[in-house]
Amino acid sequence: MEDFTKIVNWDNLLREAKTFQNNKPFKFAFVGEFFVRDFYEKLYATYPKIDESWHHISSYDKNHFSKKWGKTEITQIVQEGDDPSRSDDWNKLKRYCESKEFADNFSKFSGIKVTKLKHFHFIAMKKGGFQLPHIHNVGLSTLIIMVYFSKGWKQGEPGGTYVASKEDEASILFEPYNLDNTMVIFHDSPYSVHGARYMEKDTERKALQITLEYYSPETGWSGGDPDVISKKRTENLVEL
Ligand SMILES: [Fe+2]
Repeated sequence: MEDFTKIVNWDNLLREAKTFQNNKPFKFAFVGEFFVRDFYEKLYATYPKIDESWHHISSYDKNHFSKKWGKTEITQIVQEGDDPSRSDDWNKLKRYCESKEFADNFSKFSGIKVTKLKHFHFIAMKKGGFQLPHIHNVGLSTLIIMVYFSKGWKQGEPGGTYVASKEDEASILFEPYNLDNTMVIFHDSPYSVHGARYMEKDTERKALQITLEYYSPETGWSGGDPDVISKKRTENLVEL
């Protein structure tokens, strides 16, 4: 089996397990030095350049850039396997995120049973970037992880993913300001409000979103397959 040691500082994650599990009104935590520093610096150096190949998502409620894993953006569920356009280290990380060990460690940390990698994509914001507070609420067994790759972030500077008690920036519970090898993790729930405040400075907030979820071959994704849901919506089979 491939050697996946020296990628994640699991002790740093597990140290926050109680905080995560006890936080109200939903489970969330902030973790420093998530990746082993040497490995992180390699990921940082080869984080994809934000260029025309990225998908610019701009609407009334958000303004950010997204780059999915693999050649195309046909599916919303992450494509399995390597992406030759990414560095060896990013491919290694992707393979690790697909491993049983990775899901098992997050299940142990969170107390929420997750078994499979659902999303693995780059999300970036530039000046003018933001995301209004929102809730997904796809089900009981989904963990959303935002890992940051931005050095020199200032205390109080907007751009990190905040968590809030209401769909209102006045009710922010936590917002990260160290975005250098840190992560924010939250449990998807009916109360899991999150977003990103408007970025006024000309800088780049670089992140990776990892979503882990319970999946079984018999029943599929516990939170549903977003591709199937989108298709049904366009065919008016489900109410919006
Ligand atoms: Fe979200």
